[in-house]
Amino acid sequence: MEEILRMSNISKQFGEVFANKNVNLDIRKGEVHTLLGENGAGKSTLMNILIGLYQPSGGEIYLRGKKVSIDSPRTAVKLGIGMVHQHFMLVEAMTVFDNIILGVTHDKSFFINRDKLKKEILELSEKYGLDIELDKEITEISVGAQQRVEILKALYRGAELLVLDEPTAALTDIEVQGLFQIIHKLKEENKSVIFISHKMREVLEVSDRVTILRAGEAVCTLNRDETTGTELANLMIGREMTPSIYEKKDGAEESVLELKDVDYHKNNKHNGLNHVSLCVKKGEIVGIAGVDGNGQSQLAQVATGVLAPEDGSVILKSKKVTKFSPKAFIDAKVANIPEDRNKMGLVGNMSVEENLVLKATEDDRFSKGKGFFLKKKAIHEYALKLQKKNDIRCSSVMQEARNLSGGNQQKIILARELDENPDLMVAVHPTRGLDIGATGYVHDCMIEARDAGCGILLISADFDEILKLSDRIIVMFEGQVMGEYSGKNPPIEEISLAMAGKE
Ligand SMILES: Nc1ncnc2c1ncn2[C@@H]1O[C@H](COP(=O)(O)OP(=O)(O)O)[C@@H](O)[C@H]1O
Ligand SMILES: [Mg+2]
Repeated sequence: MEEILRMSNISKQFGEVFANKNVNLDIRKGEVHTLLGENGAGKSTLMNILIGLYQPSGGEIYLRGKKVSIDSPRTAVKLGIGMVHQHFMLVEAMTVFDNIILGVTHDKSFFINRDKLKKEILELSEKYGLDIELDKEITEISVGAQQRVEILKALYRGAELLVLDEPTAALTDIEVQGLFQIIHKLKEENKSVIFISHKMREVLEVSDRVTILRAGEAVCTLNRDETTGTELANLMIGREMTPSIYEKKDGAEESVLELKDVDYHKNNKHNGLNHVSLCVKKGEIVGIAGVDGNGQSQLAQVATGVLAPEDGSVILKSKKVTKFSPKAFIDAKVANIPEDRNKMGLVGNMSVEENLVLKATEDDRFSKGKGFFLKKKAIHEYALKLQKKNDIRCSSVMQEARNLSGGNQQKIILARELDENPDLMVAVHPTRGLDIGATGYVHDCMIEARDAGCGILLISADFDEILKLSDRIIVMFEGQVMGEYSGKNPPIEEISLAMAGKE
C-alpha cells in the first residue's frame, strides 16, 4: 500500500517535558492506523502537530512523499488532513448545515446556493452512512450525531486522512459499532484513518496497524494480524518495576470506607458503577488503577458524598450512610483532593488565605455565630502557619490563588484537607500536571497521612503513581472491579491486562 503520510523524528517539548520525542509514524492509504498509549503518552500532541495546531520542536512531515510545513490548521485542511478532536469544536447555536459549510466558500458568488450545497452534503453523508439531519441545531442532536457531523465536516473539506482522537470515549456501545461501520466505509473509499484509543478491544477490532506510544516515544508499529491484546497491553504499559521508595503497609482491621454492591448508572460503561464493592482500611492507601473514564470519577463522587448510589450501600466508619451530601462527608472527616483543582478544589479569585479556611469558616476558631463574624486575625495567623508548614510559595497569603503555580495550588488544598487529620482521604489524580518536585511533595504528604492512620482512596490514571503509593491495588474497567492485588509485589502484567478489560 502506498504511503500517504510520514512523520519523521518528531519532537515536541513543553517546558521540561518531552510530549513527543523523535517519533516516527507512517500511514498508508486506505488503512486504519491506531495510536495506542496511556494517558499522557503524547498521542494528542502528535496529532495536534499534524494538523498544525502545534509546531514541532524538531522533525519533518512528508505527505505523499513531499516534505510539507503545516503552519496552521488551515494548511492542514488544504493538504487533505481532517481531525475530529476529543472535544468537539462545533458551534452549538448553529444548525448542522451551517456548521458544515462554516468557513468554506465553494461558490464565488456572495449568495450561496444553500439548496445546492445541502444536496451535495447529503449525498456525501449518505455515501458514508453518516445519517445526519442538516437542519437541526447542534444542541438538539446526540453526542454520537455531533461526532458524525465533525466527520462529515472534515470529509466535506476534502480530507483524505482523518484523525479521530479518542472517538469512542463519549459513545454508547451501539454508537461505537456505528462509528466502526463508518470507519469501514472510509477505508473502502481508500481514505486513511488515524484512530486513537487506549481500549484494547476496540483497537483489536478496528485497526490494520497499531503504533504504540509510551512516554512520548513511539515504541513500535505492529500489524494487527500479527499481534495480540496481551502483547499490545504489555507494550503500552511496558515498564520495568522500579521499587517504590515507600514502605508498603497492611491497613488496620478497621475499615474507614466500605462500598457494598454499589450501582450508579450501571449500564453506562464510562460514567457508571456496576456492583462495586471495595473497602479502605485505616492506615492504608488503596489505589484504583484503570484508564480514565471507567467509572473512577463516579467512584470518587460517591466516596465524597457528591453522588448517591442508586443501589447498594456505603459504610463510613462503621455507619451506613443515609444522607449523601458533601457537607455530611466533610463533617465525617472525609478529605478530598478533587479531580479538577481549579473547579472544585480552589476558588481562584479568592486569596490563598481564604482558600485555606474555606471549609472551616463556621468553625469557632475562625468565626463567631457560625460564619457571621469572621475572626480575621485568627484566620490570617492560621494561614501563615499553614503556608510556612507546607512551603506554599506565594508573594503573600492575600494573593489570589489562581495566580499560583499548579504545585502551589495543590499544596493549598493538601494543607487545608490534611490539617483536619481526616479519617478518609479521597485523592483523584493528585499530581496531574505537576512537576517532579511538587509531585514528590504530594506523595510524601499522602504517605505521612497514611502513617498517621488515615485511610486513602487514591484514584489515578498514572500507573506509576498507583504502583508507587498503593498498599493495595484495585483495577476498574467499565464501571466494574476487575481484580484486587497486593501493592507489595504487584503482578504488573496481570494488572495491565485487567486494566485493558481482560480477565
Ligand atoms: N499545551 C501543553 N502544555 C504543557 N504540557 C502539555 C501540553 N499538552 C500536552 N502536554 C503534556 O504532554 C504530555 C502528552 O500529552 P498528550 O499528548 O495530551 O497525551 P495523550 O493524548 O496521549 O493522553 C503530557 O505530559 C501532557 O501533560
Ligand atoms: Mg489525548
